[in-house]
Amino acid sequence: MFETSDARRAVARAYRLAIAAAALPIVLADYFDPDTGAAYDVGLASKLVLAARMVRNNWQIPTGSSFVEHLVMAAAILKVPPEVDGCVVECGCFKGGSTANLSLVAGLCDRTLHVFDSFEGMPEPTADDETHLVVDSERVHSYEENSWEATVAEVEANVVAYGDPGAVVFHPGYFDETMPGFDEPCVAAFLDVGLRTSAETALEHLWPVLRNDSRCFTHEAKHMDMADLFFDREWWRETLDSEPPGLVGAGSGIGLHPGPNGFSSLLAYTVKNPAVDDYAVVAQTGADNVVDVGRTGSD
Ligand SMILES: C[S@@+](CC[C@H](N)C(=O)[O-])C[C@H]1O[C@@H](n2cnc3c(N)ncnc32)[C@H](O)[C@@H]1O
Repeated sequence: MFETSDARRAVARAYRLAIAAAALPIVLADYFDPDTGAAYDVGLASKLVLAARMVRNNWQIPTGSSFVEHLVMAAAILKVPPEVDGCVVECGCFKGGSTANLSLVAGLCDRTLHVFDSFEGMPEPTADDETHLVVDSERVHSYEENSWEATVAEVEANVVAYGDPGAVVFHPGYFDETMPGFDEPCVAAFLDVGLRTSAETALEHLWPVLRNDSRCFTHEAKHMDMADLFFDREWWRETLDSEPPGLVGAGSGIGLHPGPNGFSSLLAYTVKNPAVDDYAVVAQTGADNVVDVGRTGSD
């Protein structure tokens, strides 16, 4: 028999789905902006087809990240001017759901997607990495060696069936073996690696090749231990001789999916040496910085 709590849960789920669908034009405003992709002749029709393929792929391939998150990254890639040479990098692909989707946008932009993964799952976590605090979701995530395992054959098959295999180059092996020496300029990176030690290795080798004003996304936005890495002055100074870049969405992710405490996601990003000269300067005088109720907030 259908219990009242089941019915309530079903209604709540339907309500959340309706809100998520209604919010898509807002959370994907950058993706649907006519300027985004114009330089690659990617207009509204192509974007709708790409989005539909990503939804289908999310459905067909067991995937840890959502098509909405993939479309946010697609927007970032479509906004890179074609004359800026560089590849896209994915670290951590599991069964290739995110890989297939990122390969579609890489292919549209005539860029290569370099995919780094052990294809044996996680390495053995250090003591510090065995659990991560995810305060926003009131959870503790735990990790074990070989979890999230998928073979390279399985991932390749998924990319052939659902993505653009011609755009993808695989680098099988643990990051500390495969990433040193990687020297392709990179215009966007996606780190979905679970462990902080894995993220440190990936960042150490990616940051030097990431182009200025390019985005590096992480899919561990809500993990306090992972968000902390992007603010860790000592690590950045010692490892990369630079200042920590910070993280947009640290602790709660960028607001993409509706949940109990508003919109959130596991996706966050940082920008390498952002082009601040192009940013608007807004004097914080208290005159024009107060809440505009019509826009439901202040920036
Ligand atoms: C959470 S899964 C990726 C999920 C995938 N992006 C998706 O959306 O479905 C994490 C992946 O990172 C890989 N990984 C983590 N640490 C690694 C390391 N040090 N070297 C190679 N692969 C690693 C694992 O093998 C696993 O496939």
